[in-house]
Amino acid sequence: MHTQFMTIEQIQETAQAIRMRTKHKPTVGIILGSGLNELADSVQKADSMLFSEAPNFPVSTVYGHSGKLVIGELENQIVYVMRGRIHFYEGYSMSQITLPVRVMKLLGVETLIVTNAAGGVNSEFNPGDVMLITDHLNLMGMTGFNPLIGPNLEEFGTRFPDMSQAYDRELSDTARRVAKENNINLREGVYAGLSGPSFESPADLRFLKTAGADSVGMSTVPEVIVARHSNMRVLGLSGISNKANLDGSTTTTHEEVMEAGKIITPKMEKIVRGVLRSL
Ligand code: HPA
Repeated sequence: MHTQFMTIEQIQETAQAIRMRTKHKPTVGIILGSGLNELADSVQKADSMLFSEAPNFPVSTVYGHSGKLVIGELENQIVYVMRGRIHFYEGYSMSQITLPVRVMKLLGVETLIVTNAAGGVNSEFNPGDVMLITDHLNLMGMTGFNPLIGPNLEEFGTRFPDMSQAYDRELSDTARRVAKENNINLREGVYAGLSGPSFESPADLRFLKTAGADSVGMSTVPEVIVARHSNMRVLGLSGISNKANLDGSTTTTHEEVMEAGKIITPKMEKIVRGVLRSL
């Protein structure tokens, strides 16, 4: 069911249902993007729950996004891992797709690590690269789909939250250090968040490039905005699954995105584990 604005009561109900299923008290949230799900299987002493078992939770419908919540230990941290995420293009509201982040907050999560699969707009980037997200272009928000539209839930944060440092500088420095220690050539840049589900046209991509985007995808930005609203610290990582097709000479497919995930996952996993160890 499409619910435009989730209420505090609904969010509390979801959090309570999850609390009933685990003794763990997570402090770190991890959202895994397309093709990057494996890390969820490494969580120790895991309690897991399908999205469909959590009241009010939107259910992910996309192949490669099988929705499961996994709570347990990873690198001595108690983590709340979203194996798969819900996208705006599935037809849920902005408030619904960001519900998992608010639930995390109620469960005690203070740090959010978001990952995604993205197209490389920066011509230096190659499929298989990992990009540290240093900032984002909120194109969904610019077209009237900001996840904070609607009654402000004061329990989480203020009406007009600052976004000048959406991506935590200290966590970003840690990610850079960990990448270096593991000989990973970590790219950096601005992630542009579009609604999808169609991939971008060559003209869209030239526009994004001109606007300063380095990678482009269909997620992450709404979650980060909601996380920052409630003052969570955020680390963002894009796995570059394909080169953006600025001249229209090649096509982009979901299969290609899933395939690149196999190269990206081990790198992403090293970085995430290293960051967790440093917390
Ligand atoms: N565009 C948008 N989203 C994506 C892409 C892309 O090229 N690759 C993976 N997710």
